[in-house]
Amino acid sequence: MRSVIDILDFTVEELDELIATALDIIDNPNKYAHICDGKKLATLFFEPSTRTRLSFEAAMYELGGNVLGFSEANSSSAAKGESIADTAKTVSCYADIIAMRHPKEGAAYVAAQNASIPVINAGDGGHCHPTQTLADLLTIRREKGRFNNLTVGLCGDLKFGRTVHSLINALNRYDGVKFVLISPEELRVPSYVKNEITKAGKEYVETKDLAEALPELDILYMTRVQKERFFNEEDYLRLKDSYILDPSKLTRAKSDLSIMHPLPRVNEISVKVDSDPRAHYFEQALNGKYMRMALILMLLGIK
Ligand code: NCD
Repeated sequence: MRSVIDILDFTVEELDELIATALDIIDNPNKYAHICDGKKLATLFFEPSTRTRLSFEAAMYELGGNVLGFSEANSSSAAKGESIADTAKTVSCYADIIAMRHPKEGAAYVAAQNASIPVINAGDGGHCHPTQTLADLLTIRREKGRFNNLTVGLCGDLKFGRTVHSLINALNRYDGVKFVLISPEELRVPSYVKNEITKAGKEYVETKDLAEALPELDILYMTRVQKERFFNEEDYLRLKDSYILDPSKLTRAKSDLSIMHPLPRVNEISVKVDSDPRAHYFEQALNGKYMRMALILMLLGIK
C-alpha cells in the first residue's frame, strides 16, 4: 500500500508512466470509464479548495468510481477535537483511497502513517503539493515537449507557495534546467528548497525584477501571495500586489513562453493576458484532472 506525500515519492520513470497514462486517458476516455467501478475516493479537505478537490472528484467519477468526504474542517469531527490519525483510521473503513488537504505541514504524512489505504497529499500547509506538480508537469510536457534545457521563472510568493516547492523539486531532476526566482525579499524560496537546487547541481538566480527576467524565460510560473499563511495583515497588504503581469510586460517575452499559474488568481495576472496564446493556466487545471486519474489508477494498482 503506497501513499504520496511528496513529489520525490515518484521516480522520474514513474512520472513518465503517469504522463503516458494521462495522455492515453485524453485520447481514449471510454477505455477508462468503468475501470474504478465500485471504488471510493474520500476527499478530506480541512482547507479551502476549488480545483484540487473538484478535479479529484471529477477524476474518480470519470473512472466510474464514487466520492465521499468533506470540504471544510468545521463539518468534520476535527471540529470536536479528533486527531488526524483517528480520522485516517476511520476513513480507511469507508473508502479505498484518500486525498487530503490540511493547513499543517506534515498532516498528510501523519494520515498516511495511520491509514490502511493510500493517502494522497493534496496540499499540507506551506510545505508541498505533489498533485499540483503532476498537473504542472503534464502542462509543460504538452506545451514544451520536454523537461530539460528550460529556463523556468517562478514569481510571487515563493516562501509560502507549496506548489513552487514541489515544482522545483520535480524539475531539479532534469538536465539543463535553470531557475529564475522572482519575489520580494520577504517571500524568497526557503533555504531548504534552495539547498536542493544546489545539491542537484542546477543553477538559480534570485531577483525582484519580473520585467528584467522575462525575456530569457521559457516558462513563467506566477503565484498568488498566500494570505492565509501570513502572521499579520499589514505585511500581506504591503506585499500582495508586488507583481501584476499584463500585456505590456509580455511584449519583451519569448513568443513561445508558457505562462502558468496553479490558480486561484487574485491580481497577479491581468485578465487581459487570458486571451494571449501563451497563457496556459486553465489548461493546467484540466491537466490536473487527467493526472489525478492516472494517479488514482497507479495507487489502486489498476492497470
Ligand atoms: C494552490 C494551493 O492550494 O497551494 N492551489 C491549487 O491547488 N491549485 C495555489 C494557491 O492556493 O495559491
